[in-house]
Amino acid sequence: MYLHPNLALICPLDGKPLARYEDQLSCDNGHSFDIARQGYVNLLPVQQKKSKQPGDSKEMIIARHRFLEAGYYLPVADKLNEIVASLTAGDSGITLLDAGCGEGYYLAHCLQFLKCLSVTRDVVCLGMDISKPAIIAAAKRKDEITWVVGTNKSPPVEIQSVDIIICMFGFYDMDVFAKALKPGGYVILADADNEHLLELRQIIYPYIKSASARRDFSGFDLLSSLSLNYTIRLDQSTLADLLLMTPHLYRAPKVGKEAVKALSALNLTVDVLFRVFQCHKT
Ligand SMILES: C[S@@+](CC[C@H](N)C(=O)[O-])C[C@H]1O[C@@H](n2cnc3c(N)ncnc32)[C@H](O)[C@@H]1O
Repeated sequence: MYLHPNLALICPLDGKPLARYEDQLSCDNGHSFDIARQGYVNLLPVQQKKSKQPGDSKEMIIARHRFLEAGYYLPVADKLNEIVASLTAGDSGITLLDAGCGEGYYLAHCLQFLKCLSVTRDVVCLGMDISKPAIIAAAKRKDEITWVVGTNKSPPVEIQSVDIIICMFGFYDMDVFAKALKPGGYVILADADNEHLLELRQIIYPYIKSASARRDFSGFDLLSSLSLNYTIRLDQSTLADLLLMTPHLYRAPKVGKEAVKALSALNLTVDVLFRVFQCHKT
């Protein structure tokens, strides 16, 4: 498992710093967490689990991995990279947390991009997801990224130790994020905007709800908000992956899912809202 020396991981049970001893991370109070042979550590104690297998299932992760690796959301990854680069230009070192990283696509792309921009800059990357299958898949990437199973409700990082938290299509808790961020640190949220996958939603749902992103978070200023909008064309098997990797598979009525199965291909709008929040500097 890759562990950057400047990454300040803490024990999820008592908040004490974690240090590596052979194949474990341990705190001074004797709590130990095994480093899995796949190259990640599980820092989600049973007390913080609301179900036996929280987060996305293995099937969802496999489908998302196939979909993302095919490049359909590459412009989304590029936009994220652009934002991170603009927020950190001139910084000699940065710590990034991808909260709800899934199978690691965005964080891995971001690290590669930042390394191309500057080989000397120290970039500390932590990818965290509540789903064990997601983190097992992410750890296969072999990048210089630390992958942990953990929850956005209580990220296992030292208070005020992170420069940027990324939350891509995830479940954010801005109060918790504020504690993990250094003063003046940033949160980048990417969420589905009103036209996102609209053509698919029009087929599977009898009526369409519009997205209503919350705008104000205490302790943060909204620095920027921008929409990325483009079109992709998916064949039947990729449409099946898309359905599987989103909540639509569970929410959609049977008749809607059958209608999607009958399609041979579909043009779809990708419409993503990026928002950048800055934590108050005090
Ligand atoms: C829609 S997926 C997005 C994954 C990834 N960010 C991406 O865009 O490819 C949402 C992810 O959030 C994870 N998740 C759900 N609840 C979480 C929590 N409380 N803490 C951390 N991750 C969580 C799920 O397991 C899933 O991987």
